Amino acid sequence: MRITDTSDLWWKTAVVYCLDVETFMDWNDDGCGDFEGLAQRLDYLAELGVTCLWLMPFYPTADRDDGYDITDFYGVDPRLGTHGDFVEVVRTANDRGMRVIVDLVVNHTSNRHPWFRSAEASVDSPYRDFYVWRSDPPPDTSSEVVFPDKENSIWQFSEKTGEWYLHRFYRQQPDLNVTDPKVRDEIAKAMGFWLELGLSGFRMDAVPFLLETQGTDKAEAARLPDPHEFLRELRGFVGRRTGSGVLLGEVNLPHPQQAEFFGGENGNELTMLFDFIGMQSLYLSLARADAGPLAKALTDRPAVSPDSQWATFVRNHDELTLDKLSDAEREEVFAAFGPDPRMQVYGRGLRRRLPPMLDGDPRRIRMVYSLLFSLPGTPVLFYGEEIGMGEDLDLEGRMAVRTPMQWTDGPNGGFSRAPKRRLRRPVVSGGYGPEHVNVAAQRSDPESLLSFMKLLIRRYRECPELGWGQFEVLPQPHAEVLAHLCRWEDGTLVAVHNLGAEPRTVPLTLEGCDSTHRLADLLQDGTTPLSDAGRADLQLEGYGYRWLRVVADGSRRLL
Ligand code: NOJ
Repeated sequence: MRITDTSDLWWKTAVVYCLDVETFMDWNDDGCGDFEGLAQRLDYLAELGVTCLWLMPFYPTADRDDGYDITDFYGVDPRLGTHGDFVEVVRTANDRGMRVIVDLVVNHTSNRHPWFRSAEASVDSPYRDFYVWRSDPPPDTSSEVVFPDKENSIWQFSEKTGEWYLHRFYRQQPDLNVTDPKVRDEIAKAMGFWLELGLSGFRMDAVPFLLETQGTDKAEAARLPDPHEFLRELRGFVGRRTGSGVLLGEVNLPHPQQAEFFGGENGNELTMLFDFIGMQSLYLSLARADAGPLAKALTDRPAVSPDSQWATFVRNHDELTLDKLSDAEREEVFAAFGPDPRMQVYGRGLRRRLPPMLDGDPRRIRMVYSLLFSLPGTPVLFYGEEIGMGEDLDLEGRMAVRTPMQWTDGPNGGFSRAPKRRLRRPVVSGGYGPEHVNVAAQRSDPESLLSFMKLLIRRYRECPELGWGQFEVLPQPHAEVLAHLCRWEDGTLVAVHNLGAEPRTVPLTLEGCDSTHRLADLLQDGTTPLSDAGRADLQLEGYGYRWLRVVADGSRRLL
């Protein structure tokens, strides 16, 4: 393994940044963010250290699910710009050293997509089999819906032909039938189109639902090719068309099932998967001030191919789902970070951003992001996390965390010059409003969260052992401390994080090390000697964090 491999398998040491064009920057003053606005902010993102942008859906939409209900897989929502504006953004991002991936939402279309309009109109439509239909009344599927506040069945009766169609999400999002070869071809063709415009891959939405054959007769399903074959085909297709494009999959399943979506140790399906289990365990650990659940989740990750990668995250654009915790564990997290029912959603998650959940405590917020960037994997940020934005609980559902980016302390937080009433979504007000939380102020403050994030990103990029290395939890006596190391080739990084409020002294013994090694702090100045037995005592403040590189005498590595 050579350092140059990090550019070959670029995704293993990437820093991914998710944003929605419509809430990022409005350049034409209509109250809605646009591609021109995003283009103006690419230098900001490059300076932050982002290496890969993930654009949330920007396609024409019926807007029932904030763009995840698409009416044209080849289009650009005219409110956001044109194909030309899209290409300008991709080109300029590439020039600034950033790749671009986009949301691929092909589990379903909008019910206003021309395919569905045609399919719904007649059983003889050439598009009828693009969707999943049943003629007999469906059983009770209320436990299978994704949006239990709005739906109580995954089947919707369609008057026009007197049959029911499958929809995992809202009834306005009929599921596509990927057992139909024509649908598979259409999906690949749409992917090919966007790849031609310079993308480096896709964030694949709702992958387990996409592959499911529910609604297909069991005997028939058994005759169909393995749905995972479809993922293998798409991975091969992206590879052929781009050489280095990736599929970053949304697969919120237990670890053993996630392994299948990587294509096991062959690694020929999804390139990266979000570590939902790690994320949920992180919150349980934070709630308990006990690193145990997180350490267990990390060590329980299944073995994957060297090309595959875990995508780590603290928050995303959806609810903070806690669905994989036990009921009692979820209640603990609710009690700690979202006790008010208004903060909760779908009975399984929290519609909050991190800083308000931690009562704005800067020590804890920084400790969590230090932890995120030190975990084995590729970190993914959601816009606004880098400045510590909060949520707006007055907005419906998940929109609470999808408010406009806060650029300045000026009107509309600098997001738009349109009158406030015309904004696509209101800007957060109160303690987390732009008067207190904005990019402009934090850019010029070396002590700001933004400056700290830049440091974390720089160090993460300088430590490829985090993306590539072998991970180990280091034994030490404090339940509230996570001490771990990542080792790759001759590089070893040790990280210690204190999830508790009390200072701790952490005794560590590093195997294979002796007094010819020392520990160099990477987030602050300082060096700690190791004893002949490779031992050191590390001091940690309450909610303290340290990254330490193991340096051997004579090492040529720059610190
Ligand atoms: C997952 C997306 O993250 C979410 O926002 C969306 O509602 C569903 N998939 C349906 O596309």
